[in-house]
Amino acid sequence: MILIKALVLAGGKGTRLRPITHTSAKQLVPIANKPILFYGLESIRDAGIVDTGIIVGDTYREIEDAVGDGESFGLRVTYIRQEAPLGLAHAVLTARDYIGSEPFVMYLGDNLIMGGITDFVSEFRKNRPNAQILLARVENPSDFGVAELSGGSVVRLEEKPEKPGSDLALVGVYMFDGKVFSAAESISPSWRNELEITDAIQWLIDSGADVRAHEVTGWWKDTGKLEDILEANRMLLGSVERGIHGTVDGASRVDGNVVVEEGASIEDSVLRGPLVIGRDSRIEKSYIGPFTSIYHDVTVHNSEIEHSIVLENSTIADLGQRMERSLVGKDVEIRKCATMPKAYRFMVGDASRIEVP
Ligand code: TTP
Repeated sequence: MILIKALVLAGGKGTRLRPITHTSAKQLVPIANKPILFYGLESIRDAGIVDTGIIVGDTYREIEDAVGDGESFGLRVTYIRQEAPLGLAHAVLTARDYIGSEPFVMYLGDNLIMGGITDFVSEFRKNRPNAQILLARVENPSDFGVAELSGGSVVRLEEKPEKPGSDLALVGVYMFDGKVFSAAESISPSWRNELEITDAIQWLIDSGADVRAHEVTGWWKDTGKLEDILEANRMLLGSVERGIHGTVDGASRVDGNVVVEEGASIEDSVLRGPLVIGRDSRIEKSYIGPFTSIYHDVTVHNSEIEHSIVLENSTIADLGQRMERSLVGKDVEIRKCATMPKAYRFMVGDASRIEVP
């Protein structure tokens, strides 16, 4: 059997997720209390791959701390620094020495593919094309890279076309053999000054390479922006099973699929699943509603939260209105002001978004 390596892209600019990405890696935002990136690493392991290169940028320290040497995932991880986020095809070139002559699967670290990538990798092993792309049927192809097929082969790729030639969008997983390096070297940067992987694949097609497609059957999501993160959270919480490992006092009610992790405490509150409360978090006199993921060491006091994600060490207290469809970063405090005058008081980072009733 041919040896296949994985290349996971966990650098990037993350402009669509500011201000979270001013300080943190978007690939580590937890969905149902597990970092997005971990789902991808598990899929790679499940596909029988061990050697995994992770492309990292400015957030390299945080990614390396979270993933380590990969042993806990059953992987052997090597970190590859990309000098700047100059595009997916630039990331491929950056990994050239690591990849060597082996075929590899390239996985965008902010993508979630519910059914994993095992079938996708097996198909590549069987057919051994020069490249293989993963596609999904979408209602709004103009928002994606779009592929046109003839038989099982890809004949044209277009980035966000005004008049899409099909409804098949590129999903963030690709397979390549060594030819991709010639392609990435031959193309020029796009209008946004990135070496685009779609241009590299089009170059392969134009030079007669065998580029095939594989359609995703299950659910998938590119979590590059807030709405998609919240939807992914909703999807993944939809399949959690009830498990109460922390403490719930007699004045509280817990309905449906609710996970309360170890060390978490629930006092005088109503939890209506599906939702997860992370370890050592405290929920007091509050309502936590469906599709909410509260990460570890969070305090929620006298407040109502629904359909949201709250990251570690944050505090939400005495909100007069229910909070919903929100992503709250680390070490954030949102509370009703205790002193006069009654006013909004903010200390908010660049590119934050706040909506008040
Ligand atoms: P994108 O989401 O396409 O790009 P981005 O992270 O720069 O975000 P935005 O468009 O909001 O500014 O990237 C897909 C994945 O690939 C993501 O996990 C980041 C990673 N990536 C790299 O590692 N290097 C790169 O040069 C680029 C462009 C992305």
